[in-house]
This record gives sequence, C-alpha cells and structure tokens, in this order.
Amino acid sequence: MKVLVVGSGGREHAIAWKLAQSPGCEELHAAPGNPGIARLGFCHPVRAEDAEGLLELCRSIEIDLVVVGPEAPLVAGAADLLRHGGVRVFGPGREAARIEGSKSFAKEVMLAAAVPTASPLPVARAPCVIKVDGLAAGKGVFVCRTAEELEAGLHAAAAYGDRLVIEALLEGEELSIFALCDGAHAIALPAARDYKRVGDGDAGPNTGGMGSFSPVPKIGTAEIEEILDLVHRPVLMELARRGTPFIGVLFAGLMRTIDGLRVLEFNCRFGDPETQSILPLIEGDLLTALVGAASGSLDETALGVSAQAAVTVVIAAPRYPAENDSGTPIAGITDAEAQGALVFHAGTAVHGERLVTNGGRILGVTGVGDDVADARRLAYDSVERISLPGGRWRRDIALAAAEESSVGA
Ligand code: AMP
Ligand code: GLY
Repeated sequence: MKVLVVGSGGREHAIAWKLAQSPGCEELHAAPGNPGIARLGFCHPVRAEDAEGLLELCRSIEIDLVVVGPEAPLVAGAADLLRHGGVRVFGPGREAARIEGSKSFAKEVMLAAAVPTASPLPVARAPCVIKVDGLAAGKGVFVCRTAEELEAGLHAAAAYGDRLVIEALLEGEELSIFALCDGAHAIALPAARDYKRVGDGDAGPNTGGMGSFSPVPKIGTAEIEEILDLVHRPVLMELARRGTPFIGVLFAGLMRTIDGLRVLEFNCRFGDPETQSILPLIEGDLLTALVGAASGSLDETALGVSAQAAVTVVIAAPRYPAENDSGTPIAGITDAEAQGALVFHAGTAVHGERLVTNGGRILGVTGVGDDVADARRLAYDSVERISLPGGRWRRDIALAAAEESSVGA
C-alpha cells in the first residue's frame, strides 16, 4: 500500500514511523513532511492546507490511504475533497471535524448525546471559563477564577472576533483519551497526559505541548472502555445520526471532578505530543487499523498494546512560545538514538548538509521502558546528548508518575 501522511510536526513523524513498520506499507509519502520523515519515505512540497494539491498528489502517485495529522485541513474540509476524489482518508470531513472546530457545536452534540460536560452558563461571572468558539491554536480558552481574570479573559477573547462559549469552571485531574473511529465503532488507544505550560511546575504561558507520557497510572483498559461508552461512542452515534459520521481519531480532553468525569473539549485528530508517547506502545499493525477505520470495518480490528511506558520530552526554541528559531545547528541525534531513544522531528530543516532549527517545538525525544521511571530516564539521558544551543525543555515531564511507578515497583 502507498500511504500519504499530511503534516510536518512531531506527531506526523511518529505516525510515519509507526506506519513504516507495517508489513502492508510499501511506500510512505508525506506532504510536506520534515527531515525526520524524509529518512522514512518521500516528502512532497505540498502544504497540508492545500487540499487540491493533496488530491493531485494522491492521483499522481496512486495513494491508497491518506492520514491527516493537523486539525486545520480537516476543519477546512480536506478529507471531503479527497474522498469525493476517490481517495481513502483517515480523518473526519468538515461537518464532523466541527467537534473540534466549534466549541458551541461540540457542546450541542454533547447535550444531544447526553455526554457529561461543563454546564454552559448564561452570563460571564467569575468563576467561569471563557472559550473562543472557533479554532485558536490552543490559545482561545481563559480560565477565570476572579473578576480581574474574567475582565482580562473577555478582553483577550474579544481579539478573536468570534462567538464565545461560557461554561462552569471545573476542578480535577485532566486526562486525554483517544479512540480510532470508523464512523460507527471506536477502539481505544492507551491513555496519555501532556504538559501544556512552557515551564516546570506548569509555570508560564501555554504552548503546543512540552512533553507527554503514556500510559497514565491507575487508568486501566477497563476504565478506558467505560470512558469510550460514556463519551466517544455516544458522540459517534449522534454524528452518524446527523448524517456526518466521524472517521479518524476522536480525542477527548477530560477532567475527573468530584461529581464524575466531564468533557472539556474534543479534538478531531491525534494529539501532539501525546502521539509520540502512544504509538511506540502499539504492538499491532497501525496501517491495518487505519485502513479499517477509513473503510468502516474497524470492528474487525484489534490493536495490541505493550505493557511498557513511554515518555516524550520536547526540546523547544530558546524563546518559545513567544518566538520561533531558525538556522541554529542541531547535533547529537545519532547519539541520542544510540541510547535507544526515538527522536521525532518537529521544527527542523536541512540547510546544505546541516540539520538546523526551523520552528518553535524543534524535537521530541521519546524513551520507552518497562515503567514510567525507566522511560523517563532514557528520555532525559538522550535529551542531554542533543546539542541545540539555547534549546529549552521541561525537567519535570512524567516526574510524578515516575515516582509513583518506582514506589509501586
Ligand atoms: P480546552 O482547549 O477546551 O481543552 O481547554 C484548554 C485547557 O483549559 C484545558 O486543558 C483545561 O486545563 C482548561 N479548561 C477548559 N475547560 C475548563 C473548565 N470547564 N474548567 C476548568 N478548566 C478548563
Ligand atoms: N497536546 C494537545 C493537542 O494536541 O491538542
């Protein structure tokens, strides 16, 4: 099979890396891809947002399956255009992708499907949470505990010029649960947690994600299945009932409150950097599963999951998230890989013969081990082998979980 991965980040590198191991993967292509993906297959200079260009590429190289990584092309309808053009796609169409693209749509679907979520509030009064309705690259959510925060939040949200959703402020532990979906069936991936803030101890501004780990201690397969029954499957049924079935990854951002589980948000694609920690734990054939999902036959698929753990540490540009970096030489990846780590490219480029920075999040370094503590040790030992002048990374990724796993051992 010829597979095309759409996107250029660490998530897409991890997807490409996993798909390339499938016996059915004869050729791996990416658009536009990155220097890490280029080691696994062919990168084509077509932007992820250029749906017409993607269709043309699929036709010219006879692609059998397209896997779309980022949300923007999905929300813009790239999967519809490709499907109408006769291409098999893993990724939701425009209508179903609104589950991520519009917070008010997601709320409406959850209410219709009786999925527990934060209650909508008629007026903005602290404490509450204000959300910009449309896509805002993770920056459109304002948690307002005080009247001052509310005022600042309303001001910042107004800059997006979009509708606002106001909801109850919930307290509890956060958790992400991903399911592969074929429009009717859902199969779970291992639970993961990510780190959104730039600094240790969750200090500083929000980012695209500074690290992740999987699995999450104390969340076993039985509980994940319960969550799929409570959240993912009712949403799939509701979207199918509306005539817009969801094909792709349904990613639920959840909070465990004292009143039970609540959905904070949905995404319509794999998480970044959660995917870099999840996919190394999948033992089964990911390509067969994604083809099954894209063809409506996911019920015939099972995905084995290893008993190991994975930890991913993101190395970002010196001033990320305020500024990206470009042209700084990167060295030591081979050394990190020799330790046994996986190094996923996110914001890199090749200048001449040299690998250099080209973005905000530059690399993701993933360690896999027998438990979180082992995986974490490998990830951080390997990060130390990489030279990227001024590069920043968090020192506390998976720290609490590693301490728990060591105590339990
Ligand atoms: P979202 O993009 O909706 O997941 O929101 C981003 C982050 O804002 C979440 O990961 C939570 O930390 C926080 N958040 C969102 N909704 C709520 C809520 N209703 N109560 C408390 N925190 C929230
Ligand atoms: N890591 C969170 C996201 O992909 O949205």
